[in-house]
Amino acid sequence: MSNYAISSIETHLFFARIMREHTLFLMAGFPCKEESWIRQADFFRGQFEELLKDAVRISDGRVSDSVIRSGELVTEFTIPAERRTESLTGISIDSRISELELALRCGGDEGLANFRDKAFLNQVHELNRRSLRLLNGLINFKESILREVKNGNLFTANYPLLIQHILREARLYRDTVMECMRGRRFSMHHLCETEIFWNQIMMEHAWFIRGLLDPCEEELIDTADNFGDTFCALLKAAREQDAIASECNPKDRNAMNAVMGDCDALRKKSLEETIKYQQFKTAGTEGILKLKIDSIILPLLADHVLREANHYIRLLNCKL
Ligand SMILES: [Fe+2]
Repeated sequence: MSNYAISSIETHLFFARIMREHTLFLMAGFPCKEESWIRQADFFRGQFEELLKDAVRISDGRVSDSVIRSGELVTEFTIPAERRTESLTGISIDSRISELELALRCGGDEGLANFRDKAFLNQVHELNRRSLRLLNGLINFKESILREVKNGNLFTANYPLLIQHILREARLYRDTVMECMRGRRFSMHHLCETEIFWNQIMMEHAWFIRGLLDPCEEELIDTADNFGDTFCALLKAAREQDAIASECNPKDRNAMNAVMGDCDALRKKSLEETIKYQQFKTAGTEGILKLKIDSIILPLLADHVLREANHYIRLLNCKL
């Protein structure tokens, strides 16, 4: 039961913040005449902010040390990035949530004892149910934006690929909550599913970064292109590994050991590259905040992609 509760609140702490930011990026990308689209995005922004706040409220002393230390919830840049983004876009961001998250303590004996607390478990159930309702709505909303953009009825400064990208993340959040509700830790159905999902996300981040940098930032564009190529190759390798694993006879121990060995090697390589990428994203976020980089990247978008790299690094470390 404690696994269920920990997995649930850790999922919300990471993903509810990510969803709130997606809706902010959507709001900032619509032309001012699209009042109805902006209003709908703002509705989800407010709802996910409330959900995040409620998750934070019940998380102190209950979250794993590895999640707190990973930098996937908040980074040293999150609050300055929120303040600057709020002032640039006029969209409100409650930074008190980030302050509370910076002060979160991990679960010790006292925290574990609390998992037997029925009121706490009810709060976790309620958060899970609420998040699924909201996610169904948000997924429909993102799908309709994509459809209208593709039909030429709606303009947004966000790339169509970015909308597909944030749709995939919303679906992963929904799948993860559903797995938590089934009472077990999230398990990928395929051997390399984590790598397939996140290597694609990392590759697309590189494409977005290169496309949002000022065209004069040639060196950074080259570096982003290189990361794009690296993660494209890692994605391809993960898909190939996954196909080999699914065809392998589980009774053939030698073949299975060879497949597992190859998957481990791919995981190590993904980890190595994501750590380098994390350093690039850290330097990028700092450069944007210090006005040293010319771009049309919102400071909070820079911090957002950094947190996603931090999340992926933690997942890879868990599996190795
Ligand atoms: Fe995202």
